[in-house]
Amino acid sequence: SLSILRTVADLRDRVQTWRRAGERVAVVPTMGALHEGHLSLVRAGRERAERVIVTLFVNPKQFNNASDLAAYPRTEADDAAKLAPFGVDVLFAPGVEEMYGNGFATTVSVSGVSEGLCGAHRPGHFDGVATVVSKLLLQSGADCALFGEKDYQQLLVVRRLVADLNIPTEIIGCPTVREADGLALSSRNVRLTPEERRKAPAIANVLRETAERLASGMMAAPALEAARSALEAAGFDRVEYFDLRDAETLLPIERVDQPARLLAAAWLGETRLIDNLPVIPL
Ligand code: PAJ
Repeated sequence: SLSILRTVADLRDRVQTWRRAGERVAVVPTMGALHEGHLSLVRAGRERAERVIVTLFVNPKQFNNASDLAAYPRTEADDAAKLAPFGVDVLFAPGVEEMYGNGFATTVSVSGVSEGLCGAHRPGHFDGVATVVSKLLLQSGADCALFGEKDYQQLLVVRRLVADLNIPTEIIGCPTVREADGLALSSRNVRLTPEERRKAPAIANVLRETAERLASGMMAAPALEAARSALEAAGFDRVEYFDLRDAETLLPIERVDQPARLLAAAWLGETRLIDNLPVIPL
């Protein structure tokens, strides 16, 4: 049955008990408002480990916008109820004091993959993510941690910090879960008005069409320009970026002759949507 734990000490005690019994441990870091995307990570964790920890912490350090933090949905009781049928052992839901109290003064900052894309538009965001993910992995001591490709740049930032800091946790990337119309599931989708919700799948559709063009050899510059125009024509208010990058380094590329990633961020009213797709050369 699911235990809700609030302190690092309690989390460590629980994990130690499992370890003594020779059990493997998976961790799924989240900010709650759980949906099928999160639950797909939980399922993937259950396949790899006897024990699964879900963490729920709305991390203030990764919000570069106070109103976004204030508006972030907080639904712990519903989240716990959603996890119960999945055989999750622990919901680790610490308060801000437990995570950042007592003179906290350390930042984990990853260069390279965290620059550009979301890193350029959300100052401090990836420092906040890298710091909290480092803490959650060290607190849980998990054998593996599951992250969604939905946040592709975040996944690469996490892979980098785990390698650089010798954190002995295997990072598993999991495919993006989508609605029937293609919209990637996100905790922020609840903020879309009905009209915005009708427009929202355009980001996935334009990514797919553009990925096909790029895979068949079209140059990036005209393909990306057409993609921006298509998103604006579909009713997006502002396209923050629409870029083709190397799939591992996230450096810009001019055409696809190695594994690449197509990534986009765009605004519908007050809501910022992100999505991305792989582009494999034909
Ligand atoms: P959050 O947005 O709650 O997402 C938690 C995990 O779920 C992330 O690994 C994210 O990539 C994954 N996820 C979200 N939507 C998904 C979808 N549609 N399909 C598959 N996976 C999806 O990402 C964060 O929280 C935070 O930055 C966190 C890593 C917890 C650090 O605070």
